[in-house]
Amino acid sequence: MSTPALCPVPPYSTGDETSFGHTSARSRWPIIITGVVDDLHRSAADATGAKAEEGRKLIEAFGALKHEVSHDRTLEPLEDDGGEDIAVYNAELARQGPMSYGNAPWLYSECYLYRKMYLLLQKTEHWKDYDIYGRQKMDAFVQSGRAVSEIAVRYKGLAGQLDGVSPEQLELLFREFVDISLWGNATDLSLLTSLSLEQLQSLQGEKARKESEKYILANDVEAAFAAVKAAPGGGIDIVLDNAGFEFYTDLILGLFVLDSKLASTVTFHTKRMPWFVSDVIPADFDLLVDALASPADFPDHRPELDFLVDKLKKYHAAGSLVITTSPFWTTSLPFWEIREGGLGGGDAVRSELLSSKCVFFKGDLNYRKLTYDSAWPTTTPFKTALGTLATSGVKVMSLRTCKADVVVGLPAGKSDELEAAWIAETTAKGKPQVGKAWCWTGRWAVMQFSDGL
Ligand code: F6P
Ligand code: MG
Repeated sequence: MSTPALCPVPPYSTGDETSFGHTSARSRWPIIITGVVDDLHRSAADATGAKAEEGRKLIEAFGALKHEVSHDRTLEPLEDDGGEDIAVYNAELARQGPMSYGNAPWLYSECYLYRKMYLLLQKTEHWKDYDIYGRQKMDAFVQSGRAVSEIAVRYKGLAGQLDGVSPEQLELLFREFVDISLWGNATDLSLLTSLSLEQLQSLQGEKARKESEKYILANDVEAAFAAVKAAPGGGIDIVLDNAGFEFYTDLILGLFVLDSKLASTVTFHTKRMPWFVSDVIPADFDLLVDALASPADFPDHRPELDFLVDKLKKYHAAGSLVITTSPFWTTSLPFWEIREGGLGGGDAVRSELLSSKCVFFKGDLNYRKLTYDSAWPTTTPFKTALGTLATSGVKVMSLRTCKADVVVGLPAGKSDELEAAWIAETTAKGKPQVGKAWCWTGRWAVMQFSDGL
């Protein structure tokens, strides 16, 4: 087994009071577990016999986990549930040394927590495939109906004309659909513990998107377009983040790339298990398509939605829209392991991604993994923060709204400016925060590219 690719810069820690990791571990994780317990209560109430009995035990187990987290217990090696990733988690725990939830590398401990929740399900007979976040994912999607319709109307209006567009128009449209997919990431259910649904909705819609352009701090969309159009046909990949509205925007980007013949395949990479509350798992594709097809869930603009549903089903059946997964995405490992001999499945993922014209990595958690979730100076070049991935041959395009501490590739002075403005803004509202909290809210974003060479 090869040794892990190590980062020279220290990782963000849940023990650092100025890191969002601290707030996450102390405040958000217990709330998230409480949400799971509430959900299990509802589902267990509908179950009968042995399943209902197991449901009650599961609720107790999640209660105990919440106690562990709230009382800052030590992270113990994970029990073997048959998953090949368990050994990877335990090797990392042994390598990184003893830690407690409240004083641990943020990336490792947060992934460990989500893996542990899945482990509790794996120990049951009847709840192994139960999505503990499924209900909230679908509820939130259905509530984003206005923005879903708006995009469907835009897409249907456009799709028939794609054959006749000029290269300049094609690039403009590419930018538009990349933008839509980027801002789709502002909707993250794990943040709903601090953001209301109303606030979430206001992040969506075309007007909001246009106004948001000034919040994109680094924008390499031109380089990504050059990579995608470099050769006719071929494939692109999208390493997904959240289900529901964000996944819908990613599928629209995929449809656009296929319909405009910029690529002949789009491969979507999902998580293998329920993850970080809202992340896409394989079952979410059918659930999303069924919801879009349902007049009860989306009563308005049926012709436009039916048009999309039809396209998604056809491309999927034809094998040009592919849904796949790998155990690598739910390890705690940074994407520096997407390299020859990379650990935890990183080697296999690299082989899969090498032929891609461009791999879009969606969202904040993927960005943290790209950059080793480490305390880089904000002016660090993106490629430096990608470490071994920067020269792995894989073309990377990150579409990320900032919801954590790490950010790189900013011009000199930019983060100081944003910190000062954030302190002034939060102080004026009577709720002063540390300056670097500007980077935690999803208001700002980066789109950063690496050619893999
Ligand atoms: O910021 C809270 C958090 O849970 C982070 O730990 C994580 O990076 C992010 O939310 C998830 O956001 P996204 O869904 O964009 O990856
Ligand atoms: Mg997510």
